[in-house]
Amino acid sequence: MTQLLPAPEANWFGDKPVDPGEKTGLVHEVFSRVAGRYDLMNDLMSAGVHRAWKASFIRMLAPRPAETLLDVAAGTGDIAQGWRRNGGGPALLCDINESMLTVGRDRAIDRGGVEGLSWAVGNAESLPFPDGSFDAYTIAFGLRNVTNIDAALAEARRVLKPGGRFFCLEFSRVAIAPLRLLYERYSDAVIPRLGEIVAKDRESYAYLVESIRRFPHQEALLERVTKAGLSMARFRNLSAGVAAVHHAYRI
Ligand SMILES: C[S@@+](CC[C@H](N)C(=O)[O-])C[C@H]1O[C@@H](n2cnc3c(N)ncnc32)[C@H](O)[C@@H]1O
Repeated sequence: MTQLLPAPEANWFGDKPVDPGEKTGLVHEVFSRVAGRYDLMNDLMSAGVHRAWKASFIRMLAPRPAETLLDVAAGTGDIAQGWRRNGGGPALLCDINESMLTVGRDRAIDRGGVEGLSWAVGNAESLPFPDGSFDAYTIAFGLRNVTNIDAALAEARRVLKPGGRFFCLEFSRVAIAPLRLLYERYSDAVIPRLGEIVAKDRESYAYLVESIRRFPHQEALLERVTKAGLSMARFRNLSAGVAAVHHAYRI
């Protein structure tokens, strides 16, 4: 098997240089701290726009009843639930953080919508599933938190069946320069402050801003998706590139 060397982003936790061996644990701590407020903070930070992005993502995904989905970095489960609501087959939610999955599972139980859903704790870089297990793989706002992005992409390919579909929703680079500047100012000024007030946790939300800044831009990620052995890779910008959907096939 080819050894995947840690990519440069593995050396950063937000704006702090770290040893790649430490990063996964630090990210785990962030999501353990924010799990209880995660959904509320998403709505506040994006003024609800993350819901529209996720709805577009689900439309592009075009759920199919005969297909199985693996939603990686599933968190509180918006993607898997959107897949099921829109006619998709069984969905398995996988996340490295049990607290995030627990918040999502409790929410699904409260809303009476657990049929066809199952949960597993696991790392995107070494998924606990056999080769060729799923028809579709999704990762939404998860890839930038993973220490070794290339290892996670290789795992996505491995667990997909031939013909299986890969979909990634992630923050990206705003395509219009003046808008980019405005967005960066907003991110720096508002997001850590909101984190401080609502979640009593400025540091975790400062990490969020920096992790977005360090994540590969659209074209660079497209190249890495292709390098991981996924075929026919494309991306589509959402909100002028604030977020982007990358999709590809395992041939
Ligand atoms: C920003 S949340 C996204 C949650 C959900 N997909 C959504 O769109 O709302 C990022 C999630 O990635 C998970 N995560 C971080 N590193 C991971 C890894 N190496 N493997 C699996 N999940 C990971 C975190 O625990 C967290 O639940």
